[in-house]
Amino acid sequence: MLTLGVNIDHVATLRQARRTVEPDPVAAAVLAELGGADGITTHLREDRRHIQERDVRLLRQTVRTHLNLEMAPTEEMIAIALDIKPDYVTLVPERREEITTEGGIDIVNNLERFKEVVDRLQSAGIPVSWFIDPDPAQIEAAAKTRAQFIELHTGRYAEAKDEATRLKELKLLQEGTKMARDLGLRVNAGHGLTYWNVYPVACIEGIEELNIGHSIISRAVLVGLERAVREMKLAMRNQL
Ligand code: PXP
Repeated sequence: MLTLGVNIDHVATLRQARRTVEPDPVAAAVLAELGGADGITTHLREDRRHIQERDVRLLRQTVRTHLNLEMAPTEEMIAIALDIKPDYVTLVPERREEITTEGGIDIVNNLERFKEVVDRLQSAGIPVSWFIDPDPAQIEAAAKTRAQFIELHTGRYAEAKDEATRLKELKLLQEGTKMARDLGLRVNAGHGLTYWNVYPVACIEGIEELNIGHSIISRAVLVGLERAVREMKLAMRNQL
């Protein structure tokens, strides 16, 4: 059964816009779960532009589903993850100037270092997922690190300007999922998914979880978070 991880970072983005205490992403996580979220996803960035360490610590105590901590594979973040022990971590690339995570991480050119990162986290009982493009070389490298999961970056599919490109990107996601499963990896996907483009990705056999943030929080501003999450779960089944 395909599950939905709701990324609550944008609630913190609004809070940080005023450097105040509201809206609280911890409260948002509770409402997302009441709306049917199967997991809560949150990205602690090096520049702390939205989520703060305090949020992750409280989420660890309050999330009733599972907590997926997105982070860069840096010493600072590894130390935080080993301390907080999220249910799993998703390792993402990070550039200070980017608006959001713009591409997948490059495992191929960092293989030895990344193997060690996976080993440190997974031997502490924290499964690791790599956020990568649906590129066979990266998928193969992810398997070599012995990580349990990958999250396929759906950004290029989501941003496709025409139907032919969209179908080409969808095929890459389908083939990438199959390849990863054959290599023994579990597969999640996310980035740029909306109520209108989610269904074809939700139909890909072998994907376990979709991580969706911006589209859900945008709708939540207008209709409330519980309803926005419920409606995304309907959209994943083409029932909206
Ligand atoms: N997955 C990962 C690894 C991400 O970095 C993000 C964005 O924070 C998402 C999923 C969610 O993307 P969006 O906000 O476009 O739904």
